[in-house]
Amino acid sequence: MIASATNTCKLQFLKIIAVMVVIGILLSIATVSLRPIPKPVHILLIQPNPSIVYATNTKFLSVALDSSMIADGFSKFDMRSQRLRNMIKNLSPGYLRIGGTMADRIIFAISDMHSEKYFINEQDGSDCAYEEIQCSLESRPNSTLSAKEWLELYDLASTTGFTILFDLNVLLRKADGTWDYENAEKLIEFSNDKNMDVIWQLGNEPNSFQHVFNTSVNASQLAQDFMTLRRILSKYPMYTNALLVGPDVTRPRPDDTESFSYLKEFLSAGGGHVVNAITFHQYYFNGRTVVNTDFLNPKNYDILTAQIDMVKGLVSYYETDKKPIWLSMSHTRER
Ligand SMILES: *[C@@H]1O[C@H](CO)[C@@H](O)[C@H](O)[C@H]1NC(C)=O
Ligand SMILES: *[C@@H]1O[C@H](CO)[C@@H](O)[C@H](O)[C@H]1NC(C)=O
Ligand SMILES: *[C@@H]1O[C@H](CO)[C@@H](O)[C@H](O)[C@H]1NC(C)=O
Repeated sequence: MIASATNTCKLQFLKIIAVMVVIGILLSIATVSLRPIPKPVHILLIQPNPSIVYATNTKFLSVALDSSMIADGFSKFDMRSQRLRNMIKNLSPGYLRIGGTMADRIIFAISDMHSEKYFINEQDGSDCAYEEIQCSLESRPNSTLSAKEWLELYDLASTTGFTILFDLNVLLRKADGTWDYENAEKLIEFSNDKNMDVIWQLGNEPNSFQHVFNTSVNASQLAQDFMTLRRILSKYPMYTNALLVGPDVTRPRPDDTESFSYLKEFLSAGGGHVVNAITFHQYYFNGRTVVNTDFLNPKNYDILTAQIDMVKGLVSYYETDKKPIWLSMSHTRER
């Protein structure tokens, strides 16, 4: 009897405990649902040995030097600085693109005798990169690139593991509207004599010449000019198989077909067959209006996928051999 009374007691006790547990759970559910919804937490999970999703070229991350530096005589850029060289070396291997808006105002001069330098502030990615802004650099004077500067640039690149992509001036034009290649050939001949390994470009954002320089070179003419350049390059042993890339149009936009149409016309005129890679420039933001939070919104970066798809569509339509597509310039300057 005593044993059974103890058992009944135990049973009662367990029942009470069970009820308390249930009440406890209900209470904690109530408390949880009364709390404010927690903010999402972003966790970056780095797997120790992830499988490779995509392998980029070892030179994928490359750098550019704006042609405006040539125009102002490298006033803020000491090519001989050992410190600079040490830093650049750590970014190698890569391409060093020398180009930009002022590329179409640079004239090569073997001697330093008639050097023309202008302090200017017109870089790619500045206001001029935005189609809605009339830049009117029409009266911006030419500047010279001397042979000495060219050799120094080449030395800087080659001793730090970089290959130069040099953007030739396409706005030197003949009266009949074709490219005046005489100055470019001088540079090519000089570089060939010095055994310089260079990749060539011709013109910078040619679809924007109207708003930047108040002049224009249509895309079929530009394709002809690229063929001329290819013919010139083939005359020099260093460049018979040199890479020539272009046409460096501005970012294709779904809402404004200007750049897209220009590229389409360039390819339909056969321009794609003379270049080794189809190039375009890509800017995520308008440097005048961008704010810090824009950089943190992943959606802003999705635009590139659509742009690459637009260019891929064109390239596969016009190219049987599927030329690679290069982003030859990207930049966002803060205000
Ligand atoms: C630049 O030089 C070329 C060739 O000498 C000349 O035709 C052109 O007018 C010059 N441009 C400017 C803006 O001075
Ligand atoms: C393109 O420009 C060239 C040279 O100025 C001209 O001869 C040609 O007619 C132009 N083509 C088109 C389609 O506008
Ligand atoms: C552009 O050039 C034309 C002449 O070719 C000139 O009449 C016009 O005023 C220029 N526009 C600007 C904005 O400089």
